[in-house]
Amino acid sequence: MHVLTVLDHPNPDSFTAAAAQQFMQGAKAAGHSVELADLHAEGFNPLWSMADIEADTDANTVPDVRSEQARIERADAICLVFPLYWWGMPSMTKGWVDRVWSWGWAYDQLDDPEKSLLRSRSGVLLCPAGASSDEMEASGYLSALETTWIKGTFGYFGLSPCKLEVLCGSTGSAKRRQALLERSYQIGYTLLSTRPAESKT
Ligand SMILES: Cc1cc2nc3c(=O)[nH]c(=O)nc-3n(C[C@H](O)[C@H](O)[C@H](O)COP(=O)(O)O)c2cc1C
Repeated sequence: MHVLTVLDHPNPDSFTAAAAQQFMQGAKAAGHSVELADLHAEGFNPLWSMADIEADTDANTVPDVRSEQARIERADAICLVFPLYWWGMPSMTKGWVDRVWSWGWAYDQLDDPEKSLLRSRSGVLLCPAGASSDEMEASGYLSALETTWIKGTFGYFGLSPCKLEVLCGSTGSAKRRQALLERSYQIGYTLLSTRPAESKT
C-alpha cells in the first residue's frame, strides 16, 4: 500500500518529527511505499481564506489544496503526526484538515459519516502529548478526542479504520521517549491493513 504521512512540526529535530520518521520506517519495513507531507517545511498555508470560499462556490479548487488532495488520492493509508496542543490540533494541522478535505470533494453528507465521497483508507493519528495516559483517561480527554476526531472529523472522510494513538509522556525521560519512538515504528509496521474499496477516488 501507499502510505501518506502528514507531519506538523516546525522543528526537524523535534520528538514529533522523530515519531513521524519512525512511523515511516515501520511502514517501509512492512513493505509499503511512503510519502511525506512536511507541512512546515513545504510552507503550507493553513489559513482558510476568501479564495477557498470562492472555490467552493465555483466548484474550482485552489492549487495548493488540489495538490494536497492529489496526495490523498494516491494514498491507501494516511497518518497525521502532530503534537497535542491545548487538547486539540495545532493550527497547521487544523488548517490543513479544514482546507484540504473540502465539501464536495471529501464529503457532502453532514449527517452521515459513512457517506464519504472518498474511498475507504486506513487512518492513524499519531499524537505526542505531555500528559500521562492516566491523566488523559481520567479526565475524559481521550474519549473526547476520539469522538471529535475519529467520528466527528475523519469519519466523514472515509478513513476506516481510523485510530488515535496518543504518545503520552512525550516530554518525559529519554527512556520514555525511546519507548514511544519504538511504538511509533510498530504502529507503522502493523496498523495499515485495510485495502481500499474499488469504486471511489
Ligand atoms: C502550545 C502548547 C500546548 C500544549 N498543550 C498540551 C495539552 O493540552 N496536553 C498535553 O498533554 N500536552 C500539551 N502540550 C505538550 C505537547 O504536546 C508536547 O510538548 C509535545 O507533544 C512534544 O512534542 P515536541 O517535543 O515534538 O515539540 C502543549 C505544548 C505546547 C507548546
